[in-house]
Amino acid sequence: MQKIRLKDIIKNPDIIGIGNNVDVKGWVRTKRGNNFVQFIALNDGSIVTNLQIVVDNEKFDEALLKQITTGSCIHVIGKLVESQGKGQTIEVQAESIEVYGSADPEQYPLQKKGHSMEFLREIAHLRPRTNYFGCVLRLRHAMAYAIHKYFNDRCFYYLHTPLITSSDAEGAGEMFNVTTFDLNNIPKTEDGKVDYKQDFFGKHTNLTVSGQLEGELGALALGNIYTFGPTFRAENSNTPRHLAEFWMIEPEMAFYDISDNMDLAEDFIKYLVKYALENNMDDLRFLNDMFDKSLIERLESVTKVDFVRLGYTEAIDILLKANKKFEYPVKWGIDLQSEHERYLVENHFKRPVILTDYPKEIKAFYMKLNDDGKTVRAMDVLFPSIGEIIGGSEREADYNKLLTRVNELNMTEQQYWWYFDTRKFGSAPHSGFGLGFERLLLFITGMTNIRDVIPFPRTPQNAEF
Ligand code: 4AD
Ligand code: MG
Repeated sequence: MQKIRLKDIIKNPDIIGIGNNVDVKGWVRTKRGNNFVQFIALNDGSIVTNLQIVVDNEKFDEALLKQITTGSCIHVIGKLVESQGKGQTIEVQAESIEVYGSADPEQYPLQKKGHSMEFLREIAHLRPRTNYFGCVLRLRHAMAYAIHKYFNDRCFYYLHTPLITSSDAEGAGEMFNVTTFDLNNIPKTEDGKVDYKQDFFGKHTNLTVSGQLEGELGALALGNIYTFGPTFRAENSNTPRHLAEFWMIEPEMAFYDISDNMDLAEDFIKYLVKYALENNMDDLRFLNDMFDKSLIERLESVTKVDFVRLGYTEAIDILLKANKKFEYPVKWGIDLQSEHERYLVENHFKRPVILTDYPKEIKAFYMKLNDDGKTVRAMDVLFPSIGEIIGGSEREADYNKLLTRVNELNMTEQQYWWYFDTRKFGSAPHSGFGLGFERLLLFITGMTNIRDVIPFPRTPQNAEF
């Protein structure tokens, strides 16, 4: 039999036709009624709207009806009719019902509505069955699809960079070790150090903090590439914006300077927001109405405004003049804290800001040095309520300058010999950036905690599911 999802039936009842029989399967959200008739709200995860199933008690065994409780999974065959009731235009008059799986009301954790987000995090295995998470997960899917579409349509190639790496990409964060050693019996060298030669890869390896360095190798061959995969940072930062395992999109483009890079970043984010507005309005409207009343308005406004482009030095001036006491004092050279970023975006400019030309000391070794010798061609895109959503730069393409910087930082060319090779053989100006997928989703869904936009969050002391 042809498989039909509730989304298709609800959006386009004509594919079944009023008066015809339909075959639906899903989970019961609620059941209410009286001695004569029951109304079941059925949801199969394809759409936030439920399908109403009308049950004439007389036609069914009482024992069967008893098993149909919130959370149970059922299969219904019945006639599609126009609904007489409020709240829906169509409904199904049940002819036959099969219970696939019951859900004991005494035990089912989602028996009642209105659970807190904190509680739902503890039942991450079941929370996709709530309306909130259904919306979030469908939007997450839509954004992933839109990202691939955006790049595919513009001749960017999807490059799979390794998750296990022997390079500390950029000191972007503490790394997770990857080893097959028995931790109770680690082989040591004569001078007492860990003997990685005996480990699986014959060297010290980690989970990657970024695919960028390998991305650059791809860009200097294919022109434009992007990566889209999981990224790992073992920072012990328990904030609403950090995960230990998050997904990152990293485009890398040959022949792009910093200003081309900014243009792409702005166009990319606007495209994704527009995509959600054009294709996922049901989910956005639900989140807007139930959770964050200004969500849709905020999304629409971002697609219309030009992002501010501002140098780090000017930003520091604005912060110094700000009539606000910051927890972290402001002076030239500091790494901006989220309170500073949010002041610029939410109070001062009231729109997204792209900050450029940061002091080289607070940025990674690969960023192109400006003529002043002090700042680098970095760019961070800062968003309302989120702070940094994108980090990127033009890359240092000059072999000698890169070597000087690497030496200044007490790193060695040897560590990155393959990276240096690209500067020796056919080097080219190039740029790229990384968009945090979950940070994007915080913006798109209006959720306030990053743990609520990824199905199974990984944070310090938490890897249950
Ligand atoms: O600014 P970051 O560290 O930049 C890089 O990793 C570069 N290699 C990117 C590049 O140029 N190709 O990280 C990029 C973005 C941040 O702006 C933020 O959105 C997100 O990744 N991010 C995190 N998201 C969730 N949890 C964390 N712990 C994150 N750390 C960074
Ligand atoms: Mg950054």
